[in-house]
Amino acid sequence: MTAQSASTMNERADALELEQMKALDERIVAKSVLYNAANGEITMGNATSYGPGRHLLMGEDPRLPKMPEKPTLTDFFRCRLVQGRGYQHLLQSANLAQKNGLPEKLVLACLLHDIAVVGFIRSDHGYWGAQLLEPYVDEETSWAIRMHQALRFYPDESVGYGYPETYVRMFGEDYKPDAYIEAEYQRARKHKWYMSARMICVNDLYSFDPNVTVSLEQFEDIIGRHFRQPKEGLGNDNTPASHMWRTMRRPCNGL
Ligand SMILES: [Fe+2]
Ligand SMILES: [Fe+2]
Repeated sequence: MTAQSASTMNERADALELEQMKALDERIVAKSVLYNAANGEITMGNATSYGPGRHLLMGEDPRLPKMPEKPTLTDFFRCRLVQGRGYQHLLQSANLAQKNGLPEKLVLACLLHDIAVVGFIRSDHGYWGAQLLEPYVDEETSWAIRMHQALRFYPDESVGYGYPETYVRMFGEDYKPDAYIEAEYQRARKHKWYMSARMICVNDLYSFDPNVTVSLEQFEDIIGRHFRQPKEGLGNDNTPASHMWRTMRRPCNGL
């Protein structure tokens, strides 16, 4: 192939890509009712305004970081979790857990404990996070993540865990957890893995040094040993949580 025909082909490829981008940009991005509810409105929004020549976005969203065909957990960290503070909260918690000598599966639990807050849904985040991870981690890891949702509201002086100052700022002086949280706490207290979930709270680092940056590479080996990465890629596999990874990847698929 001559240099000239190669450059013509490159130009064609660029033009095609531009065309595709344009086509995607013209698609309707149908927001889930949940996204609209977050604005105080129960509505389908523009999701029903499709018709001839006006279609809903299906597939990759060109506005979001491009994910590889077979995404790994690390790819989700890179492309779908909030970078900066949220991301550092997870890394710094895992870093502290490691320094405190926790077993690797609990270091992993700390690394992933708020994955729902940082990349999916805030409300009931411990439950969403546990469900997302359940097929891929040790049962104790996902159980601990589920239960930190409730335990974080209740002190345990035996390990020096007090009610977080941050929660007073976040929810106000008088905030009382809902009955289901209280009931979950009571159940968790009696469970054999109670202390594993409690360790997430103990290492849940709200105020960390913004000048210290922990990198995900530090936990590469732990992820390799304790996270069962599917060879097809997260979301392309067939587990009870695959659809959740696909939703994180393509949050605005029309259906
Ligand atoms: Fe949390
Ligand atoms: Fe946290």
